[in-house]
Amino acid sequence: MMSAVEIPAGLKELLQGYTVEVLRRRPADLVEFAVQHFTRTLEVQRKDQRAKKRSGRPAWKGVSFGAKPNKPSKDDEEEEEDIVTRHLNISVPLQSVQRPTTPTMTDDDDDAEPRVMHPKTDGQRRRLQDACRDILLFKTLEQEQFSEVLDAMFEVLVKPQEHIIDQGDDGDNFYVIEKGVYDIFVQKDGGSVCVGKYDNKGSFGELALMYNTPRAATIVATQEGALWGLDRATFHRLIVKNNAKKRRMYEAFIECVPLLKSLELSERMKIVDVLGARAFKDGERLIAQGEEADCFYIVESGEVKIMIKSKTKAGQQDNTEVEVARCSRGQYFGELALVTNKPRAASVYAVGETKCLVIDIQAFERLLGPCMDIMKRNISQYEDQLVALFGSSVDLKH
Ligand code: CMP
Ligand code: CMP
Repeated sequence: MMSAVEIPAGLKELLQGYTVEVLRRRPADLVEFAVQHFTRTLEVQRKDQRAKKRSGRPAWKGVSFGAKPNKPSKDDEEEEEDIVTRHLNISVPLQSVQRPTTPTMTDDDDDAEPRVMHPKTDGQRRRLQDACRDILLFKTLEQEQFSEVLDAMFEVLVKPQEHIIDQGDDGDNFYVIEKGVYDIFVQKDGGSVCVGKYDNKGSFGELALMYNTPRAATIVATQEGALWGLDRATFHRLIVKNNAKKRRMYEAFIECVPLLKSLELSERMKIVDVLGARAFKDGERLIAQGEEADCFYIVESGEVKIMIKSKTKAGQQDNTEVEVARCSRGQYFGELALVTNKPRAASVYAVGETKCLVIDIQAFERLLGPCMDIMKRNISQYEDQLVALFGSSVDLKH
């Protein structure tokens, strides 16, 4: 005699939801799609449970996307599909996108504004995480906010000579570089001047979104490349709001940094808006002598030591490092290679647990011009220091 098989509660709805999505999306790989689909279902379920605990209502209730849950013109089946789609946050194809398709909006528990989700394959998510690892604007976000940013980002594939941004346009997206080289052009005296480039890393397009101004530069791809975009609304909700917190956190400290004393308050705040904070363990190397430079540092707490490879009597470099200086709270380093456009002149190591504020080369050039004289004077002091150490004269500037 066959015993009755009990079908677990919710199984039918789960499979139905998956089937509906397969029919809608027609994915190439059903198994990979299933993994994505059910992972997302689990995330939504957990979020739902957290929201219920906090407010006694399900997270997706009252969400303002598409049709309302009980619109009278819908029949039951359509209605169910709407709810499944909403609940699973899937509304864009899983393949790479050239430009963002309509993302799914979900209610954000902590905020009235909707949350944007662009589903990604595991491979895409890995590549996105790699590209975002060193993005300074993301460095001061809480883990939860950072995950929201990653969820909202969408892949943009670009062709040689493509203009990603045109100076003067309104800002739509912020971009993180996964690969490719991008020239930066700024209008000067009626002509377009190339003021720098992004070489397979970094990010751009934050200024128009932060300050609600026209695009301040033109960005052109010099070869095929891949970017990750973040829409203006999400950038505002997460990054710009986080900037208010950053200003509160760093305003007093930045005002006490001797190098920045000559700047206006608004200029110092612009530095705060784009800086990232990084922590280093005792002995960790922040800068390696001879490497290419892409950022500038200010010590927030702890200490760093500057080490230079010593020279033999014949003037040849040996690999023994000699300590030439230390920097502590409020002092800066890593400016020399940016000013001279040469490789790093020394290595820098953390002494004890150390925190530094970091500014990328583009922001350094844009915002620290007024401090250039002070920096150049200090570079002359380095030269004197090196003469005292190694005997022969040194020209660090040329
Ligand atoms: P945004 O003005 O939104 O768009 C153009 C972007 O180019 C700008 O944000 C910065 O991210 C980036 N950029 C890089 N270098 C410069 C520069 N020297 N001046 C202005 N913008 C720059
Ligand atoms: P940079 O060359 O970019 O990276 C190493 C940093 O060490 C350098 O910038 C300076 O900021 C700092 N430094 C401090 N003292 C010296 C020195 N005597 N010679 C070279 N660099 C020094």
